[in-house]
Amino acid sequence: MIVLGIETTCDETAAAVVERFQDGRGNILSNVVLSQVNEHAAFGGVVPEIAARAHVEALDFVIFDAIDGVAAAGGPGLIGGVIVGLTTAKAIALVKNKPLIAVNHLEAHALTARMTDNTAFPYCLFLASGGHTQIVSVRGVGDYVRLGTTQDDAIGEAFDKTAKLLGLGYPGGPQVEKEALRGNGTRFALPRPMHGRKDADFSLSGLKTALRLEAEKIAPLSDQDVADLCASFQQAVVDIVFERLRAGLVIFRARFGTPSALVAAGGVAANQAIRKALNRLAFEVGATLVVPPPDLCTDNGAMIAWAGCERLALGLTDPLEVAPRARWPLDEIAAAEGARRRTAAYK
Ligand code: KG4
Ligand code: ZN
Repeated sequence: MIVLGIETTCDETAAAVVERFQDGRGNILSNVVLSQVNEHAAFGGVVPEIAARAHVEALDFVIFDAIDGVAAAGGPGLIGGVIVGLTTAKAIALVKNKPLIAVNHLEAHALTARMTDNTAFPYCLFLASGGHTQIVSVRGVGDYVRLGTTQDDAIGEAFDKTAKLLGLGYPGGPQVEKEALRGNGTRFALPRPMHGRKDADFSLSGLKTALRLEAEKIAPLSDQDVADLCASFQQAVVDIVFERLRAGLVIFRARFGTPSALVAAGGVAANQAIRKALNRLAFEVGATLVVPPPDLCTDNGAMIAWAGCERLALGLTDPLEVAPRARWPLDEIAAAEGARRRTAAYK
């Protein structure tokens, strides 16, 4: 759970947002303290009336104004949701006179490793979520070159469809991963599409179909069948990720030199078997692996706030008229930014 706390009992106006995890651990998300010591100094102690008035004046500031900018995801995504979030951010930015940053959701996933590990540019990003499967060269904020992508389903989508087929809940990724733990990953011979190709593209639909045919062959499914199907599917995905990413790293080195790290992002990077495969690959190619903790791999607000920080630090803010976008490919930011930077340099 996450709670906003306000402290005004003496001469500090303070507000914080704190999170408590299931296991009882705590995490301070934000903690702002404004001291009134100067206002009371002349009196040699705290004057209650002055303190109360100062709290009234400062509290709004401590809760809202202690921020330097307001960021919201501006897309890509389901347009209704994007409108709600972006409009709320615009309202706060307008009322509080703060810069607005409309963040590309994919860019936020891409930059998370810099928040958690201070990863330097350029790095090779493996972005795998419910809607996207990409290998990207991250050369700077707003400077992305896509090296590979999926020709059909995203990996997260394949996990979700597998879960649905097998009668497991949504989202499918965590369910399939859980079932796979007690399953036999070698029981079903599933394909590894695109294996051996020089490009860094993915294809998942053939794997999905093969899994469905295997399931239909042995229906009705026992609990063990479901676990074995999940394990065999996950093993195929692990092999695909390993081999396709290795091809992507070859392309990266040829075009951009040695990456500072191999970085994983997106909900699929929360999968432990995939994380292990990334570890093996990084070891094999001599790269540093950076994988943010699972709760920062799946969608979260911190990654949007962080991308907002990165952009704000470079003066890349957006006007209040900025439009929400259902479609917003990463390389389109690159183009816009390149143009903006060139214009700035020219001035
Ligand atoms: O990045 P994300 O939270 O949202 C999108 O932007 O799509 O990714 C969600 C996707 C879902 O398809 C979900 O099934 C998948 O990530 N996912 C996982 C795991 N946790 C989430 N896939 C495999 N294993 C997991 N543990
Ligand atoms: Zn996402």
